[in-house]
Amino acid sequence: MSFPQRRLRRLRRSPALRRLVAETSLSPDDLVAPLFVREGITEPQPVLSLPGVVQHTTDSLVEEVKALAGVGVPAVILFGVPQIKDDIGSQAWSADGVMQVALRALRDSVGADVVVMADLCVDEYTSHGHCGILATDGSVDNDATLEIYAKAAIAQASAGADIIAPSGMMDGQVAAIRSALDETGHGVTAILAYSAKYASSLYGPFREAVDVTIQSGDRKGYQQDWRNSREALAEVMLDVEEGADMVMVKPAMTYLDVVCRVRAAVDVSLGAYHVSGEYAMIRAAAERGWIDGESVALEQITAVKRAGADFVLTYFAKGLARSMQ
Ligand code: PBG
Repeated sequence: MSFPQRRLRRLRRSPALRRLVAETSLSPDDLVAPLFVREGITEPQPVLSLPGVVQHTTDSLVEEVKALAGVGVPAVILFGVPQIKDDIGSQAWSADGVMQVALRALRDSVGADVVVMADLCVDEYTSHGHCGILATDGSVDNDATLEIYAKAAIAQASAGADIIAPSGMMDGQVAAIRSALDETGHGVTAILAYSAKYASSLYGPFREAVDVTIQSGDRKGYQQDWRNSREALAEVMLDVEEGADMVMVKPAMTYLDVVCRVRAAVDVSLGAYHVSGEYAMIRAAAERGWIDGESVALEQITAVKRAGADFVLTYFAKGLARSMQ
């Protein structure tokens, strides 16, 4: 009988030993909580496909951000749900738009205690549900869309966003936003680019959260094909050249290889978005008693860090941070 030479189990004998040799650690500092704020409601509205997630009023949003700060979460990312949608998404840059009102409320209440990121896209604001302005053939007109992204970025920065996070996957969006911000005196406002954002089927519950129905077609003409990873590097490189301060891969679990490749290729801060469908799958299986939801959440979010992300956007942010107190 031959015995193994190297005994890896020696370092797994006790929790303290395992802690000592752990290669990855997750802390509340690594988490960003996605939050929804909806215009025209007086009470928070639950999102059925995202148990535990609500559409906030401005007031309940402020309370939630304070609660997140209380458990050590350093950042939130906001999505606005407007009452009025039109074909160009004009509420996305109106000074009275739901996002801008919420940003001002947060600036006045939590100030510098929490990093406030504003998702910048127009799908929540357009009647057709696409992330930009439609051309006559029904496709999204890239360059016409850049003009409205620039306006939305200025509106968000003026209302107090610390970080602008463009998620529409238009070519040149980071450069357009960077120059719009610089030309209007918002040189300190940072950009988190959703650089490698895939045309994923895991965004379903999110679309319920923001009341978006894509009237015709899908997002495959602008979001990335999930068969590709080299292309993700091209997206990231361009965004960094265009001035992105931070980049993101989205979704997370299905794209850990991409997270790993991006980490090796660039030195900017890297985030990954554990999206609505990823959250919903865990919650649904846990509700049936098929998995232990909290452990699976901890395992998955830690795995995203292990793959190379510096921070993770996740609907589990508050729960995870609380459990780490
Ligand atoms: C687009 C946007 C989407 C998400 C974040 N920003 C949806 C989409 O591209 O269709 C999805 C986030 C999630 O699923 O949690 N504004």
